Amino acid sequence: MAKRRSKPLHHPSTFSIPPATRAAIRRHLGRWYDGSRRDLPWRRTSDPYAVWVSEVMLQQTQVKTATPYYQRFLEQFPDVARLAAADERAVLKAWEGLGYYSRARNMHKASKLIAGRLAGRLPDDWSGMRGLPGVGDYIAAAVLSIAHGRTYAVVDGNVKRVLARLFRVEVPVNRPAGHNAYQALADELLDAADPGRHNQALMELGAMVCTPKQPACHQCPICRFCRALQAEAVHWYPLRAESRRIPQKHRAVGVVLKRGRLLLTRRPGHGLLAGLWEFPGGPVDDGEILTSAFAGSIAETTGLTVAVDRKVVTVRHTYTHFKLHMEVFLCHWRSGKVRLKGPTAFRWVSLGELSEFPLHKAMHKALPALEKLLRTQGG
Ligand code: ADE
Repeated sequence: MAKRRSKPLHHPSTFSIPPATRAAIRRHLGRWYDGSRRDLPWRRTSDPYAVWVSEVMLQQTQVKTATPYYQRFLEQFPDVARLAAADERAVLKAWEGLGYYSRARNMHKASKLIAGRLAGRLPDDWSGMRGLPGVGDYIAAAVLSIAHGRTYAVVDGNVKRVLARLFRVEVPVNRPAGHNAYQALADELLDAADPGRHNQALMELGAMVCTPKQPACHQCPICRFCRALQAEAVHWYPLRAESRRIPQKHRAVGVVLKRGRLLLTRRPGHGLLAGLWEFPGGPVDDGEILTSAFAGSIAETTGLTVAVDRKVVTVRHTYTHFKLHMEVFLCHWRSGKVRLKGPTAFRWVSLGELSEFPLHKAMHKALPALEKLLRTQGG
């Protein structure tokens, strides 16, 4: 049975890594990384732009999912100038399916600043990098250390888990207030001789060996230093504060058909899923949706009078801060011209043209049922 409080516990503010341990951990970790690291496309380049793109993608997305996106993105936008010159719709389209679209919008904005004011070169100092839209401590540290060899320690979820186990850190990983504690430990452990390699080694260890559920401690190059392992308490770490329940939001959207074309509207340029395209609709108070009230809300957002024909599908999707429950209805246009209230643009599109627009994930989830329904109706 796992023991937990068998030894004095470490709060990083009162804890310092003995110098000989630090040196040994760096050495073992670095050698392991050189021999075991995955051959990933962004590890074959030191182009700061490519490193930046990879780290922005990897910040909230797993390596396996991000890899094909990274390759396509760099083919389409091979340098800062090409990204800066691109249309936002093309950038969002290249990002479609990765989620957290503000990452793409911010990167696009930042590329314009870099192309305009910095002659196309990414800053190689902390304040320059950190001042770019969307660049927080993690991205700044990752790009500066990996592409420029600067001594900044990265702290992401993988790094926190490794540190929490290695030093039995009694600070929850899922509270912003605890972040400084992990940053302080990571700073202390950083290998100034090759910070990019060291940072990637810690992240790689967290991804491949020191995993959340079934860590492979027997394969760990630094297991002899691991205090949680010594205490048979690996599974207790990292500590997590109880998470708050996330709310459910109900929404109803309408696929409005007019002479074989569907109405798509564009979300405002700020806020959740900004600039992405969707079928128009709005929030509903609970699961009970009256079709008359729904037709009224379509009229309010689009100016159109529609008839609600039938339900297409119910879509559920989980975002960071809420769960979406979305009912999709098939409607047909009765009268009126589009006058938008809320959305910022609209297009009448054929089913085939839908794929040209960056749609958000909940919309994508509705498409198979919609396509099936329209094809059976059409044929
Ligand atoms: N996760 C995010 N960035 C990474 C990197 N450069 N190497 C390994 N894992 C990562």
